[in-house]
Amino acid sequence: MVRVLFVCLGNICRSPTAEGVFRDLVEREGLSGEIDIDSAGTHAYHIGEPPDGRAQAEAKRRGIDISTLRGRQAQAGDFKTFDYVLAMDRSNYQNLMRICPIGTEDKLGMFLDFAPALERREVPDPYYEGGFDVVYDMIDEAAQGLLADIRTKHL
Ligand code: 4NP
Repeated sequence: MVRVLFVCLGNICRSPTAEGVFRDLVEREGLSGEIDIDSAGTHAYHIGEPPDGRAQAEAKRRGIDISTLRGRQAQAGDFKTFDYVLAMDRSNYQNLMRICPIGTEDKLGMFLDFAPALERREVPDPYYEGGFDVVYDMIDEAAQGLLADIRTKHL
């Protein structure tokens, strides 16, 4: 089993969208039995909450349902459980580096590094600024790159 964790700040906009998009892709490729997917936030603000209504609406518009997901906070133990711990922006990356146990740093990465054609490393935070459609497109592209990477290295 390959385990993937997507991480943003609140776990209500970007990372649950990434979880839903990647799960949908993995299901369509018939790989659900081989790839385990979760998401978390670096902060505790939204523990137990469903995704932001705007993220849910954008996902629904694209044909996926993320309404049943619930916010949780990332923890040090996630670096033992997961093979990929993927940050949405540099701030998330730095917060994760602070809780990352020694020897597991190689599991931490920037999600958009799997979408080199985008020529950007960060998924912008849409919570205050909006842009859920643009965020969704970035996530969709990186999800495909991530699956290609997993196929090459693990399957
Ligand atoms: P996310 O977006 O990190 O993509 O889930 C945010 C959600 C909540 C807040 C900030 C960003 N907040 O400040 O509560």
